[in-house]
Amino acid sequence: MWGGRFAEGPAAVMREINASIGFDKRMWRQDIQGSRAHAAMLARQGIVSAEDAEAIDRGLEQIAAEYADSGVPEDMRLEDIHMHVEARLAELIGPAAGRLHTARSRNDQVATDFRLWVRDAIDEIDTALAAFQSVLIGRAEEHAATVMPGFTHLQSAQPVTLGHHLMAYFEMVHRDRGRFEDARARLNECPLGSAALAGTGFDIDRFAVAEELGFDRPTDNSLDAVSDRDFALEFLFACATCSIHLSRLAEEVILWASQPFGFVQLSDAWSTGSSIMPQKRNPDAAELVRGHAGRIQGCLVALMTTMKGLPLAYSKDMQDDKPPVFEAHDLLALSIAAMTGMMGSIAFRADRMLQAAEAGFATATDLADWLVREAGVPFREAHHIVGSAVRLAETEGVALERLSIEQLKAIDPRIDNRVFGVLSVGASVASRTSHGGTAPDQVRARIAEARATIMGD
Ligand code: ARG
Repeated sequence: MWGGRFAEGPAAVMREINASIGFDKRMWRQDIQGSRAHAAMLARQGIVSAEDAEAIDRGLEQIAAEYADSGVPEDMRLEDIHMHVEARLAELIGPAAGRLHTARSRNDQVATDFRLWVRDAIDEIDTALAAFQSVLIGRAEEHAATVMPGFTHLQSAQPVTLGHHLMAYFEMVHRDRGRFEDARARLNECPLGSAALAGTGFDIDRFAVAEELGFDRPTDNSLDAVSDRDFALEFLFACATCSIHLSRLAEEVILWASQPFGFVQLSDAWSTGSSIMPQKRNPDAAELVRGHAGRIQGCLVALMTTMKGLPLAYSKDMQDDKPPVFEAHDLLALSIAAMTGMMGSIAFRADRMLQAAEAGFATATDLADWLVREAGVPFREAHHIVGSAVRLAETEGVALERLSIEQLKAIDPRIDNRVFGVLSVGASVASRTSHGGTAPDQVRARIAEARATIMGD
């Protein structure tokens, strides 16, 4: 492509280090899409003839059919996907192919292709996340009143409902989708026409090309357009944050599936066995989702580090922008699909959750609140009184609600029989009716609202 300048060809290793076709072939659809829009504009502006533009368009269409059919053939001498398409076009239509690259450089071309690719990826991930949210909502509705222990420091804290717990992840995913949406809105400007770095003297119509490719507008600075990759970084940050959320849920599934917890049983389809221990049902998929989150974060850090020292405009370092983005995308897509399948088929053991919720004196705060409300005791004093009650229950080896009224009165005479109304875990969760609280009615209200406003049901 630049043979005129050189007497000798590149060294073999030069070719190898320079080539990106091994990974950027994934952008072939976007590359052809961008080239077709560019060629059509060149013809409309009278920069290339209508016949040449038509030959270019037909040729590109044929290349798309070939690639869709049998993949992109890799030739390291042709470096990247842009060169592959152009070389194949020359084979198909002859010298007219050489007119496609008028008023364009691979620098604005790759920036455009990559934005288109990331935009498509965002749309695909959004659909997958919506499907995951539907599963969470369905399971949360089933378990809107199922009581489980809520934890802080992984110590039994206060009883909550399983539906509320699952809906917490729904909210995280809702924000994840918002982050992808924001990134999409900012990336949706078209670099094409920025050429190598300075713009072009040809009378091109950047607005028309931008519109044809579904962008909101052309970018406003040619140097910025060919050299920034913040759209990819934002995508990676959204992927990393989303993967952290999936990883936390995966971690809980792993804990809950362990024998001491026994809160869930994974379906056969989402468990693996052991070659030596016949009793095993291992949560490998959840562990891999947890593991993948680390790799996705690594992708974000990799690209941030690549970008941080680059002077304007394009440097070849930027070719390394694609592997981390592709990797993060693939790992995240797989993780979302795995968590969707796993959560859809997991069996929740409500009996075990209830038992655990009752075992940890989780209604101690309810007793303190009762003393404040019904007996006018200052909260700090109530905290102290309840501490004594818990200590007694612990020595006796019983739940708080199993202490007799005489025992409770001996601790503080202001306690009366009505207190038993708040000591059960069911009464505790039912009482948490503040907005966003764990009461089954609150959970059901949020589910209904989420269905109407977020899921569009
Ligand atoms: N394969 C290159 C990349 O991904 C395309 C741009 C090449 N531009 C250049 N001036 N060498 O970054």
